[in-house]
Amino acid sequence: MRIGGEVSALSRDGGGFLRWVELAEGDAGVSGYPFTLPVVAGLRAAGRLELDPAVTFLVGDNGTGKSTLIEAIAVAVGFNPEGGSTNFRFSTRATESALGEHLRLVRGISKPRTGFFLRAESFYNVATEIDRLGVADSYGGASLHERSHGESFLDLATHRFRPRGLYLLDEPEAALSVHGCLALLTRIRDLTQAGSQLVVATHSPILLAVPHARILQIEPGGTISHVGYDDAQPVLLTRSFLADPQRYLHHLFNDEG
Ligand SMILES: Nc1ncnc2c1ncn2[C@@H]1O[C@H](COP(=O)(O)OP(=O)(O)O)[C@@H](O)[C@H]1O
Ligand SMILES: [Mg+2]
Repeated sequence: MRIGGEVSALSRDGGGFLRWVELAEGDAGVSGYPFTLPVVAGLRAAGRLELDPAVTFLVGDNGTGKSTLIEAIAVAVGFNPEGGSTNFRFSTRATESALGEHLRLVRGISKPRTGFFLRAESFYNVATEIDRLGVADSYGGASLHERSHGESFLDLATHRFRPRGLYLLDEPEAALSVHGCLALLTRIRDLTQAGSQLVVATHSPILLAVPHARILQIEPGGTISHVGYDDAQPVLLTRSFLADPQRYLHHLFNDEG
């Protein structure tokens, strides 16, 4: 079975630098985290995870393994596991999983000109490294530490994310207002039209609305399914909540007891 194999007739944008990801052969005996995660079994069962040439979203509840997967793809590409461009080599911790060494990336014909791996949880350290390297000019001019978390992230996406780049983002919405999410959605669309490719773990029903994106949903049991926008969990749940918050809360609180 292949996941996300169909190519939308309209999804002609993007860089197509990464075609798919699969577990390298001979890893079946590796034990411990992250190999015990259901999503790794899901990836093994799927055979391969096909990526859209433009935008692939990873969705799934907390703890389903989105960050583990996106970090492993980043490490396999050659990014610093804590985030940044391929030139960033700082390390404030060494908690990355070994999954990256056990992934095989199948690349497309063209190579990205640039790229960035953003983890919302270590963005502070990335901003510190940008200051240390003295390259703030490439990020809008101001030290990212002198901007709000959301502003600095939008600076990054606006000034540092450029055409024909490969961008791996882990919950980029973490610092953004609804308005900020809409701005990022527009930026993602512009980047893909300029030949970039993105793989994004998200809970944002707004970001998921990027036209023609491939949405891969990690189920609690680890199965990875290719779903449409209307069937993606963040969209279903948010819609259901917003349709009638009082009714939703009533059910939620009564289920608790
Ligand atoms: N360094 C680690 N060592 C052991 N378990 C970990 C480590 N990092 C994450 N996990 C576990 O792996 C699971 C998946 O984590 P993660 O990939 O961060 O999920 P998500 O990003 O989908 O919320 C979680 O249950 C988490 O507790
Ligand atoms: Mg995560």
